Amino acid sequence: MSYLLALDQGTSSSRSIVFDQDGHVVAMAQREFRQIYPQPGWVEHDPRDLWTTQLETAREALAKAGLKAADIRAVGITNQRETTVVWNRKTGEPVYNAIVWQDRRAESTCAALRERGLSEPVLQKTGLRIDAYFSGTKLQWILDHVPGARAQAEAGELAFGTVDSWLIWQLTGGAAHATDHSNAARTMLFNIHTQRWDEELLAAMTIPAAMMPTALPSSAHFGEVRPEWLGGPLVIGGVAGDQQSALFGQACFTAGMAKNTYGTGCFMLMHNGERFQTSQNGLITTAAAQPPGKPQYAFEGSVFIGGAVVQWLRDGLRAIPSSSEVQALAESVPDAGGVIMVPAFTGLGAPYWQPESRGAIVGLTRGSTIAHIARAALESIAFQSAALLDAMSRDAVASGGVPVAELRVDGGACVNDLLMQIQADLLGIPVVRPAVIETTALGAAYLAGLQCGVYAGLDELSKQWRAERVFHPTLSRERAAEKMAEWEHAVRQTTAP
Ligand code: G3P
Repeated sequence: MSYLLALDQGTSSSRSIVFDQDGHVVAMAQREFRQIYPQPGWVEHDPRDLWTTQLETAREALAKAGLKAADIRAVGITNQRETTVVWNRKTGEPVYNAIVWQDRRAESTCAALRERGLSEPVLQKTGLRIDAYFSGTKLQWILDHVPGARAQAEAGELAFGTVDSWLIWQLTGGAAHATDHSNAARTMLFNIHTQRWDEELLAAMTIPAAMMPTALPSSAHFGEVRPEWLGGPLVIGGVAGDQQSALFGQACFTAGMAKNTYGTGCFMLMHNGERFQTSQNGLITTAAAQPPGKPQYAFEGSVFIGGAVVQWLRDGLRAIPSSSEVQALAESVPDAGGVIMVPAFTGLGAPYWQPESRGAIVGLTRGSTIAHIARAALESIAFQSAALLDAMSRDAVASGGVPVAELRVDGGACVNDLLMQIQADLLGIPVVRPAVIETTALGAAYLAGLQCGVYAGLDELSKQWRAERVFHPTLSRERAAEKMAEWEHAVRQTTAP
């Protein structure tokens, strides 16, 4: 039996998982780390925390599995995307905290780029809308605000990386400064057609090209882990941003296959094959994780408040003592009794793009109870995801493709059967939960396994992927359409005055 080690560096915790070659979880370890909020709208991590917690979990997972480095064929890395780290090449010291993807400090820089007419070149080259979410303007902020940083960067002394690059640098003891195409695609600096850093965009954001990592396919030889870290040398053979990694781990390898990850937010991706398309419905286009070959693309849309709405029921409303009790409370009523919740706590993302919107609960009557609100909260996750899938299918059909035939699901909240059934009812297509729901880490393990020959190719991975449960739609399409119309009506009421 061969084993693969996946490192999953997420926004709130670092996790490491040992998989066997059949894709089963052998052992897992997880550590949370400090979130830093220097001022409203700013979110930072200490890059050293990311590295130390990641290393600790890797060691712990190996120990729990009873395995040594020599038993592991290769390491895969997957990570929170867009989060920006700059460090000194000589000392390895970060020059500033990591600026996290959620951080909005670069909004005015983005507005200036839009005013300079860069929206279209950015869209055509990177697939992205100009937004503070992506790394480019975060990196620009560091160069403009950390004393001496720009001069050092211009002298070639500083390195930029998303979290994958930072971990590769640490794991290889500074021998490798690399990233993969799926992470590079989130920087707003990478041309996803030519798979190269784009000189025009680097210049527009005043970023010296010397800072940029080497961008490789997601399944490639990224470097060798120094023996002292895990007790022996290991090859880093796979790297992918967490959402593209999950798409890969769900074996969505061809156009029209889609996955949704139900976490704090939800991230939906649909594979577009080798065809670069821009969305008419507010989605972004991104590089899919893949072995070396012609570039492949995916549509992506995200729901800002997904599982976070359940946390709000627990911590804000104090309606439930723990998140796991939401299903029982929501199931204590047959439906939401006409109550609709739009959790636009931080605005609404695709397909609405209403950053100024705020949350609303509509349709309340004297008969409404906390159970109806809990049910409406769960439904809101499914409504937002259904609006995204609908946008993807419309884009696919408009360009001669076919609508999505089934939705593969993962992430913490996909264990909620009621939510999955509501999702299938709204979508009118099967919602499929895989046997292994750790698809983000599995994707990185698969990419590493392909690189080192544990797997012969994608067909083998497609065959290995197994459904644990399929949720079939039970609602009539007419009723589902009515419900979506009620939801859209409620969304319109959240628009800021
Ligand atoms: O784009 C941000 C995304 O990659 C973060 O994922 O799972 O760390 O919240 P997660």
